[in-house]
Amino acid sequence: MTSPHPPGATPPPGCPAHAHGGADGQPATHPLGRPDPYAPLKLYGPEFAADPNRYYEYLRQYGALAPVEIAPDVTAMLVIDYRAALDLLNDTSTWSKDSREWQKTVPPDSQVVPMLGYRPNALFNDGETHRRYRQVISESFELVEPHILREKVRHAADTLIQAFGASGEVDLIGEYARLLPLMIFNDIFGMPDSYNERLIAAIGGLMEAASPEAAATADAAFTSYIMELIAAKTAQRGPDLTSWFMDHPNGLSVEEVSMQVVLTMAAGNEPLANLIGNALSRMLSDDRYYSTLAGGALTARDAINEVLWNDPPMANYSAHYPRRDVFFHGTWVRQGQLVLVSYAAANGQFGETTLDQTRTGGGSHLAWASGPHACPVQRHALVIATTAIERLTAWLSDIELAVTPDQLVWRPGTFHRALASLPARFTPITPDQAGATPWDSSPSSSTRPEPISTERQPASAN
Ligand code: HEM
Repeated sequence: MTSPHPPGATPPPGCPAHAHGGADGQPATHPLGRPDPYAPLKLYGPEFAADPNRYYEYLRQYGALAPVEIAPDVTAMLVIDYRAALDLLNDTSTWSKDSREWQKTVPPDSQVVPMLGYRPNALFNDGETHRRYRQVISESFELVEPHILREKVRHAADTLIQAFGASGEVDLIGEYARLLPLMIFNDIFGMPDSYNERLIAAIGGLMEAASPEAAATADAAFTSYIMELIAAKTAQRGPDLTSWFMDHPNGLSVEEVSMQVVLTMAAGNEPLANLIGNALSRMLSDDRYYSTLAGGALTARDAINEVLWNDPPMANYSAHYPRRDVFFHGTWVRQGQLVLVSYAAANGQFGETTLDQTRTGGGSHLAWASGPHACPVQRHALVIATTAIERLTAWLSDIELAVTPDQLVWRPGTFHRALASLPARFTPITPDQAGATPWDSSPSSSTRPEPISTERQPASAN
């Protein structure tokens, strides 16, 4: 287990392990109620998920980096300072993304290995290998036209809304936010809608697996989906990402293409679902947005911007390993030690960012990371999230939370900021109802109704 301080080093000013000593020299009661204040702070579990900002505030006593535990027997240094985060993310001569050496030091069945274990893809490689893979992903996405993507999102949104529209109630996480990104990926990677269920069952199974057996079944299902996808596109190319990955001038092998497809689906799914879910929860919990649903004061983009600053969908990630021992922003970090960047803590260093501040563009948030590994498809992710939210609120304009905001439960885990569920209710809609409903629309005719949340009207117009 990593010690909070390197051997012989002076503890950082205000180090909690030293600053909270009682009169007898023993550590006083920990502000977060930890039995052993010398142990790195646990950054997982339901308590952390319920109030992560309290944990980040506590960690600030260490300085720019703080020791944390991210799973049983797996420790890391967490960068919580905005400037330090930017310096790390942009300094490839000091920091590597290759986790292979570190991986040898953690239990192979640790819950964090699926997120941090090495794979031959863009995320875990540096330099030329990284550039070669990343270019394929970002340049292929450039071929996805935003207006076509919007149509695809409306189609997926309508399909999902049709499934629960008549009931008047929905869990917006389980029945909407977690399903829509996978339907979009199935579509833009070139598979027909009939494959939606398979992709959802496979990736959903991986995310929610309650046992190693369930995880193995889901993993096998995902592998078989990817193999069928690659076989279908090898046999016949189409206007889709898989075909563009295959035909990219960087000349990836079939195995390399599969790895980048898996990365793109996996890297996109969780944060996109969280972005949609976190933004919807803000809109349904906050009266300022309620008037938007009814009349258009604030937009879906406003909610998304608030989330990117204050509830980033990936809260802590950007795993890096120093190539040598390094004294970084006041702390010694040993070669090969796991260092994570807390986008949430770095964004929140100067407190909650208000809507006005997000609108006036005062600085940049780190929700997409920064530097060579920053999210390559931000524009597309924003189109998908915004359209998904606008479509939902357009069809279900009186949708409201079915619980109070303080009853919402967040999923435990270090890396993501994700609701477990978002129960909502609305006036039911049915196929035979007079007026426009999602049953009437088709991808080509789905331009109405205009999303009400993009119409800015004076409050008095309501
Ligand atoms: C269409 C949806 C998305 C896709 C396909 C996607 C894909 C990717 C890929 C391929 C990478 C690796 C880039 C590299 O290593 O060079 C990446 C990185 C990243 N993405 Fe996205 N992403 C999506 C949405 C999002 C969203 C909504 C967020 C959060 C707001 C996000 C946050 C990040 C972050 C923080 C990284 C850096 C991770 C790291 O360095 O460890 N992404 N994304």
